[in-house]
Amino acid sequence: MPISAIAAEFRLRFGHEPLLVRAPGRINLIGEHTDYNDGFVLPAAINKEIFFAVGLNGGDTARLAAFDQADSYEVALADVAPSDHAWANYLLGVVAQFQAHGVAVPGFDCVFGGNVPIGAGLSSSAAVECGLAFALNELLHTGFDRMALAKMGQQAEHTYAKVMSGIMDQFASLHGRPGHVVLLDCRSLEYEYFPFKADEYHLVLCNSGVKHALASTEYNKRRQECAQGVAVLQRHYPEVKSLRDATLPQMEAQRAELGDVVYRRCRYVVQENQRVQEATAALQANDTEAVGPLMYASHAGLRDDYQVSCLELDELVEMARPLPGVFGARMMGGGFGGCTINLVAVGHVDAFVAAMEAAFERRFQQKLVTYHTTIVGGVSEAPRAAAQA
Ligand code: GLA
Repeated sequence: MPISAIAAEFRLRFGHEPLLVRAPGRINLIGEHTDYNDGFVLPAAINKEIFFAVGLNGGDTARLAAFDQADSYEVALADVAPSDHAWANYLLGVVAQFQAHGVAVPGFDCVFGGNVPIGAGLSSSAAVECGLAFALNELLHTGFDRMALAKMGQQAEHTYAKVMSGIMDQFASLHGRPGHVVLLDCRSLEYEYFPFKADEYHLVLCNSGVKHALASTEYNKRRQECAQGVAVLQRHYPEVKSLRDATLPQMEAQRAELGDVVYRRCRYVVQENQRVQEATAALQANDTEAVGPLMYASHAGLRDDYQVSCLELDELVEMARPLPGVFGARMMGGGFGGCTINLVAVGHVDAFVAAMEAAFERRFQQKLVTYHTTIVGGVSEAPRAAAQA
């Protein structure tokens, strides 16, 4: 649904002129479950976006409307708290963050909706958080920079959605650059852009159709297991402040004390961090295809050691592997469903999609949904012209 529909709905409901904002979802080329371990990620913002119409209303309530859910919610700004409208919590969590930063948020109206599929691992929730954070920052002239807004979005996720996520999704939604993936060091928060050769390769997503339930404990459990690993390693190697600092020989040496499950979680994270750095080196050397084997290895680690994949994702990767023009494939995002990301030569994309659709339907008696991604810029004000369209 286009931004013009969001703008029209806002005018109809609230009778004044909104600020229009677009907030993209993200892909991640490689670097999964590394962000909350102070490691590296290589995401990009994509042309799946949530659109916002937001305006101050002169009162003291937030009037929120979810276009796609055909639902609305109103709350006094003095009483902002988690609600039983799941979609509203992403917005309320952001408002609470502004308040926690000492901003007296005045009454405002908001309509939002878009085309980031929900539960597909493309970070629709981060797009919602970052879009509103950006809009409020503009309307209230609060001057937070993009990294501060990303952290506020992440905190909203922690406190109102109860997922102890890392910073990757919010960072990517706010810091995307057209045609580039971005390497983020999740410890220093330094980042660097690398061009992605879109004229030669496409990143195609295949949606497993399995809706992940990140909040449903498994994600938070992985975080705890990593923390347990760090606690063990720290006793022997005080310099290990997070898994970012750990090495494979250290983990081998403490394998018994770590225990099998924690050992495997930690091994995956350490190896994945190495893979992100190798992938970045490959991009730097103009060798995009060398990222492919790293993607397969990432998937194997997520499946066998980190154990966050599922049957449909595993099968999608295996279906892609033998197809002509495919260099790499892996599950993407938190796991337990969502999409695979596939690195495909431009000339093979159509045949790839057709073959995947046929194989998936044969195997699961279900239509496969695919997305051709274009790498776009991060959250921004939407051009007025788009709203009139
Ligand atoms: C989710 C989280 C991110 C990140 C990924 C896994 O998308 O929101 O912070 O941890 O899972 O890489």
